[in-house]
Amino acid sequence: MKKIVFISIILISLFFIIYFTFRSTKPTDPRGDAYAGSATCIKCHSDIYKSYLHTAHYMASMPADINTVHGSFAKNFNTFTVSDSQKVVMEKLDSGMYQSYYLNGKLMERHRFDIVLGGVKGESYLFWKDNGLNQLPISYFTKQDKWLMSPGYAPGVADYTRIITSRCMECHASFIADQPTDAQKLDAAEQFDKSSLVYRVDCERCHGPGAQHVEFQTNNPEVKIAKYIASFSSLPRARKIDICAECHSGNKSQMLKSTFFLKPGDTLANYKLPDFARTVDTNHLDVHGNQVQLLESSKCFIHSKLDCGTCHNVHQNQRGNMALFTQKCLDCHSVTNHNYCKISNPLNAKLIRSNCIQCHMPTFLTKVILTSNINKTTNADILIRSHHIAIYPEETKKILMMLAK
Ligand code: HEC
Ligand code: HEC
Ligand code: HEC
Ligand code: HEC
Ligand code: HEC
Ligand code: HEC
Ligand code: HEC
Repeated sequence: MKKIVFISIILISLFFIIYFTFRSTKPTDPRGDAYAGSATCIKCHSDIYKSYLHTAHYMASMPADINTVHGSFAKNFNTFTVSDSQKVVMEKLDSGMYQSYYLNGKLMERHRFDIVLGGVKGESYLFWKDNGLNQLPISYFTKQDKWLMSPGYAPGVADYTRIITSRCMECHASFIADQPTDAQKLDAAEQFDKSSLVYRVDCERCHGPGAQHVEFQTNNPEVKIAKYIASFSSLPRARKIDICAECHSGNKSQMLKSTFFLKPGDTLANYKLPDFARTVDTNHLDVHGNQVQLLESSKCFIHSKLDCGTCHNVHQNQRGNMALFTQKCLDCHSVTNHNYCKISNPLNAKLIRSNCIQCHMPTFLTKVILTSNINKTTNADILIRSHHIAIYPEETKKILMMLAK
């Protein structure tokens, strides 16, 4: 009898050892077996992967830690005054970083920085409340290098109740699943399966599922052409743009279904109705940009085959590289007869060249992103680039004056 028990214990232990060893060698992606996870792409596409780590898409959503939260936690720099009696203090405790709300010096609420969205113009933070997500009231603004009230919050209140839906995550992450519907209460915030969150805009978010591609190329290393992965180069322009438009055509349009599983080649209009309200309106440029509509209204777009990829290589951080972008203009607008700008001011060709973008794709102060202090709401002082490539007489005047100095 003892022997049987002993053997059974050995067998059961063996089963679990084998089960867990096998399980850990084949991690599954929350999006399903068709997805390999971006980490698997490193092996064969290491150059692309390494440069991608420096892009905004890599930072679109991240776990919050000392490397991803850029605001200061130093004394005197870590406090946002909401009103005379209220303040929010950014605090580092053993269990993480927190935004703590004090009323007349008394701690009223404390929520952790769990998720960071962004890292270029600014960062907003989310915290888990059970299985729901809420936004923290204070964001970090890069240009000001300051903690300020999160965009759209009313002055004089530290509000921890703003609910974040999967819609935010559709553009800032690669996946998150809802809890099964019976767990959803009608009046409650959307409830997520926390373990299903795939951070960042990752490789397969743009390229579609890659597990079969990884398996094939791994088993057939002698094959140098790609199999089982969508190719962008063969897509018509509208489908190429749809992949970017998924997230870069404004956030006000009506959704037909979630865009998490939109793949190269799919038609975006089956997922998201066009945002007609925001076509060419440089007065209302928003960080939640409508680059697509603005570009599509430009003569460059209408009279050529240009798409987002003509100027952007999304695997690289090209921010600030105006020489590179100018070269893209010059690929189509030759300099040899560059008197097309008809500028009488004695600007030499070199100055014209180094300012193409400034004159024809200027940045504007957005009127959409607002921040609040004790008693009023102000412009957050954020510049957004117009993708309506055109002639802007006012901008030209400004630049000519600046250059004349
Ligand atoms: C075992 C090696 C291997 C792995 C792992 C791998 N690839 Fe590839 N991939 C290739 C080869 C080989 C090609 C063809 C040559 C090239 O374009 O680099 C290719 C090409 C591609 C292309 C271009 C397709 C085209 O026709 O334009 C894309 C996109 C791509 N891979 C995406 C991915 C993604 C995303 C991952 C991770 C999920 C991944 N690959 C993982 C080997 C691999
Ligand atoms: C799943 C959503 C999503 C898709 C698809 C997507 N983007 Fe983005 N993109 C974002 C988000 C979110 C940001 C801002 C992230 C941040 O600031 O951390 C961003 C930022 C950018 C930036 C700004 C980079 C910078 O350094 O400031 C460029 C350029 C860009 N995207 C181009 C593209 C192009 C081109 C495509 C299509 C090939 C594309 N994106 C597809 C969501 C997306
Ligand atoms: C339709 C897609 C979309 C939705 C929905 C969306 N975003 Fe964004 N978001 C973007 C894109 C694209 C950018 C970057 C645009 C740029 O660089 O001009 C961005 C930028 C940001 C930034 C600034 C990032 C940076 O690095 O400067 C923050 C913060 C942000 N979004 C937060 C949110 C929050 C919070 C929500 C939900 C309430 C949300 N977004 C919903 C697409 C989206
Ligand atoms: C924001 C969307 C986006 C993300 C994120 C993205 N790609 Fe791409 N990728 C593209 C587009 C668009 C093209 C087509 C470029 C072109 O030909 O104009 C492309 C092309 C490629 C190609 C073939 C052409 C080449 O440049 O060699 C490979 C391979 C590739 N991507 C791999 C990856 C891997 C690996 C990752 C993750 C580290 C990744 N991509 C992340 C949009 C994306
Ligand atoms: C793929 C080719 C291509 C690229 C790249 C390109 N353009 Fe154009 N652009 C065109 C074409 C074609 C026209 C229309 C010319 C016509 O109407 O005769 C045009 C028109 C224009 C106009 C006239 C706009 C108007 O409303 O009258 C300006 C200004 C301009 N481009 C500037 C630029 C700048 C600046 C860049 C770089 C940021 C650029 N273009 C990139 C092809 C291109
Ligand atoms: C003719 C060239 C050109 C084309 C085509 C183009 N862009 Fe850009 N884009 C630029 C330049 C130039 C910048 C400014 C880069 C900088 O500030 O470093 C920029 C910046 C951006 C930014 C950051 C915006 C900001 O306010 O900082 C986003 C997002 C972006 N592009 C998305 C797109 C998308 C999506 C498409 C396709 C619909 C696209 N771009 C097509 C030239 C182009
Ligand atoms: C100082 C501002 C300024 C700079 C810098 C500048 N442009 Fe222009 N550009 C203008 C103005 C203003 C016009 C309109 C001239 C007119 O028709 O009266 C114009 C017109 C154009 C046109 C339209 C010509 C036509 O026939 O309709 C193109 C194309 C163009 N510019 C491209 C460029 C390119 C490419 C660069 C960089 C090499 C550049 N511009 C640099 C101000 C500028």
